[in-house]
Amino acid sequence: MNRREISRQIIDTCRQMNQMGLNQGTSGNISVRFDEGMLITPTSVPYEKLREEDIVYVDAQGQHEAGKKPSSEWRFHLAILQAKPNENVVLHNHAPNATAVAILNREIPAIHYMVAAAGRDVIPCAPYATFGTQALSDYAVGALRGCKATLLQHHGMIACGKTLEKALWLAQEVEVLARLYLAILPIANPAPVLSKAQIDEVLSLFNGYGLVD
Ligand code: 13P
Repeated sequence: MNRREISRQIIDTCRQMNQMGLNQGTSGNISVRFDEGMLITPTSVPYEKLREEDIVYVDAQGQHEAGKKPSSEWRFHLAILQAKPNENVVLHNHAPNATAVAILNREIPAIHYMVAAAGRDVIPCAPYATFGTQALSDYAVGALRGCKATLLQHHGMIACGKTLEKALWLAQEVEVLARLYLAILPIANPAPVLSKAQIDEVLSLFNGYGLVD
């Protein structure tokens, strides 16, 4: 796929993300691996106004092309793509339920077998750091070790995937899990969870199953 086609797909995915209730306003950002670096949404542009030519190329050293301004979160996008050679997409949003759990500074435990869709027995929560900082990037990369999605304390979530479709799918699954978790907490805290053996079995079945890769 050429740069223009990937840029088009990034914009379409951003708009879908907002329509699905996973994000709002100018929050969130999406990157796709391209050449030695990545293509990423620009900072502070509402998705309805985005054009293909607004998408920014950032190289492997973090240098962006002249005349454009990449997302303020370009650091964690680049660092995650570099740390995860099997993933090609990083998607960040401020989905309301996932963000509510992140504000509580909790990981989402194994309340449902779909927690395994992200690759572990929990959806972790990376510690808080100011948006756009190297510290936030380091925390995000750490939380995503062995896992394709994480909450960001007092901030939102990140989901990765081989494709835009897979990253968006995972982000929606994380948001639904967060909604379930918040629904359970007033009734049962700590929430009932699957055992390690039960989750391990699902993890082995998810290897190559459906949209999970
Ligand atoms: P950008 O508009 O710079 O991508 O920032 C949005 C955001 O969600 C920061 O975390």
